[in-house]
Amino acid sequence: MLSKKCGVAEVISASKLATGVYELWIRTELAENARPGCFIGVYPKNQATLLPRPISICEVDREKNALRIVYRIAGKGTEEFSAYAAGDRVRILGILGNGYPLQEAEGKTVFLMGGGIGVPPILELAKSLKNCKKIIILGYRDDELFLKEDMEQYGKVYIATEDGSVGTKGNVMDVINEHKLNADLIYTCGPIPMLKAIKRFAREKQIPAYLSLEERMACGVGACLGCVCKTIHKDEHSHVHNARICTDGPVFLAEDVAILEEDK
Ligand SMILES: Cc1cc2nc3c(=O)[nH]c(=O)nc-3n(C[C@H](O)[C@H](O)[C@H](O)COP(=O)(O)OP(=O)(O)OC[C@H]3O[C@@H](n4cnc5c(N)ncnc54)[C@H](O)[C@@H]3O)c2cc1C
Ligand code: FES
Repeated sequence: MLSKKCGVAEVISASKLATGVYELWIRTELAENARPGCFIGVYPKNQATLLPRPISICEVDREKNALRIVYRIAGKGTEEFSAYAAGDRVRILGILGNGYPLQEAEGKTVFLMGGGIGVPPILELAKSLKNCKKIIILGYRDDELFLKEDMEQYGKVYIATEDGSVGTKGNVMDVINEHKLNADLIYTCGPIPMLKAIKRFAREKQIPAYLSLEERMACGVGACLGCVCKTIHKDEHSHVHNARICTDGPVFLAEDVAILEEDK
């Protein structure tokens, strides 16, 4: 179990990566325990927005005790974060969540699939996976391909854009069809329609898929049940078929969670 701590991080650098998409590198002792697929809670300073905002770990630099987070402005909290500058201090909670199981990939051909603001956690994952063939498939709205060049250091990258301006027109599944790609294992993060399509594909091909469910959260530490999803396993405490995404996830084996209409 990873330790969860509240701490104050210092902003090392802040920049804009695309329209409405920003990054922060922050210095924090929590970097030591950060793993791909885990996340941190970032507290807005504005007292009107009390709860920590869950943001995935995009990259870790253990030598510098630093974490990179990349986020899209969705509301008041992320808008506040987009105005941060080097030297600012930010209260964070972490390290949260279970992360992707890396050892499963040994010797395999692996799809790393990220869609939209699900792209950031795929970077640290691509960096951390060893001894496997990595096929990275990223889906964007348009030609603002944030993090694409970072990803190219770690595997072959395929792009899908909704408007067809770069790569395959459509989504990440269209890339697989167009290039007739195959894999033994899938790791993914993205919007629910994308995760549903990937679950169906993985079921048909009979390959395991690990999905990161970046659903809405409140407390982030398992206390409020604001993030439950239906699972095939019974929760040890409540004896119901629910899992808390914030503590049991956000990464789940696709076949363990009921996200498809036919699962329910
Ligand atoms: C485990 C996890 C990891 C995440 N990682 C990232 C990341 O790396 N980068 C990133 O940009 N975002 C990420 N998110 C989503 C991010 O937490 C929300 O966008 C953020 O909390 C919104 O806060 P806000 O105050 O800006 O907006 P709010 O004012 O709280 O909400 C604004 C709008 O965004 C919607 N919204 C809020 N949370 C979510 C959510 N989780 N999914 C979809 N819509 C939402 C609300 O319904 C509302 O319409 C992650 C979420 C989870 C649960
Ligand atoms: S967000 Fe409170 S239990 Fe998950």
